Amino acid sequence: MSFDVERVRRAFPALEEGAAHFDGPGGSQVPRQVADAVAATLTAGIANRGSVTTAEQRADAVVLDARASMADLLGTDPRGVVFGRSMTQLTYDVSRALAKQWANGDEVVVTRLDHDANIRPWVQSAECAGALVRWADFDRETGELPVEAVNSVLTPRTRLVAVTGASNLLGTRPDLEGIVAAAHQAGALVYVDGVHLTPHTTVDVATIGADFYACSPYKFFGPHLGVLAADPQLLDSLHPDKLLPATNAVPERFEAGTLPYELLAGVTATVNFIADVAESTPDASRREQITASMTAVEEHEDRLLSRLESELSSIGGVTLHGRPSRRTPTLLFSVRGAAPKQVHEFLATKGVNAPGGSFYALEASRWLGLGDEGAVRAGLAPYTNDDDIDRLLEGVALAVR
Ligand SMILES: Cc1ncc(COP(=O)(O)O)c(C=O)c1O
Repeated sequence: MSFDVERVRRAFPALEEGAAHFDGPGGSQVPRQVADAVAATLTAGIANRGSVTTAEQRADAVVLDARASMADLLGTDPRGVVFGRSMTQLTYDVSRALAKQWANGDEVVVTRLDHDANIRPWVQSAECAGALVRWADFDRETGELPVEAVNSVLTPRTRLVAVTGASNLLGTRPDLEGIVAAAHQAGALVYVDGVHLTPHTTVDVATIGADFYACSPYKFFGPHLGVLAADPQLLDSLHPDKLLPATNAVPERFEAGTLPYELLAGVTATVNFIADVAESTPDASRREQITASMTAVEEHEDRLLSRLESELSSIGGVTLHGRPSRRTPTLLFSVRGAAPKQVHEFLATKGVNAPGGSFYALEASRWLGLGDEGAVRAGLAPYTNDDDIDRLLEGVALAVR
């Protein structure tokens, strides 16, 4: 499998500024093709979705293409792809719609490994419905969230399990299939936060078995918006608040107001960009191309991760947090004598972008004993190269006091 990192880098105008970007888990850089697609849609004739004028037809095609693109990326049904402002907003909306069906004494499971966007909406919606929240804890030493941690808090009253596909703090990739099987056994639905997982692997929602899978294209080269994928029949059983004249069709029922057509065109360009990362194979479907690309990306990122992990841990005064057996290329570390914010600021003077904080995985950061201050996070992306790693290692070595 060939992966040409320099070819990938050339697609990102932002890299010409010269910074080494380890801030991908907060939002990736954007390839030229994606920006061009956004601009082209903004300047083309466009109207509300419809079938009469060219402008109406264009808006309709943009939406349908974006649904098909995300379905190819995630291995789902395009009729169950919902677009929203962000994963956070979509999760709030789904939690409120689901909570209409919960009764006093029902239960919801959240995990301490999750980003707050897959905790707080559930906690608050459960509170409104009189449902009880149960917490699944992860292992502080390893950073793992074993299936048993979730299984042990399931009861016949569990209505929903909210779990991350990958921790944006530690990179931990829980055994989603095992967790989904246990939750389904208990009769609960599963809402997977795929925001940090989707940029780093081939996602197949059908294999995972998740009832809901949420992600954010701006974490994988796309524009700033959120995506939710679910079985259209399941979506049809939910009734979010909506305007009277707005359609009750699925998935539009969940998309309050007018969709950002230009960003949706960017989503399609993003998925096409991903499909094009690996060499194209004649007659391969886009889904097959995506799988080939993400396999190549994973190999590239895993190699750089092993290198970074072993060399960072050999710098005296650096403490790495967590050592999950399956992880995304995301490392969390503390530097002796320097607060995370200071390390972030120092590295920035060297042109190395690696922020410090809890990154909204507040429960996880507190559970690790890192409080609200957190630690420094280095996230790799397909455009990361060995030179970036050298610069990060040099910077961190200088930051130790
Ligand atoms: C793991 C994870 N989940 C959820 C979110 C929230 O995503 P959004 O900004 O689309 O609401 C983030 C954002 O950083 C994240 O990293």
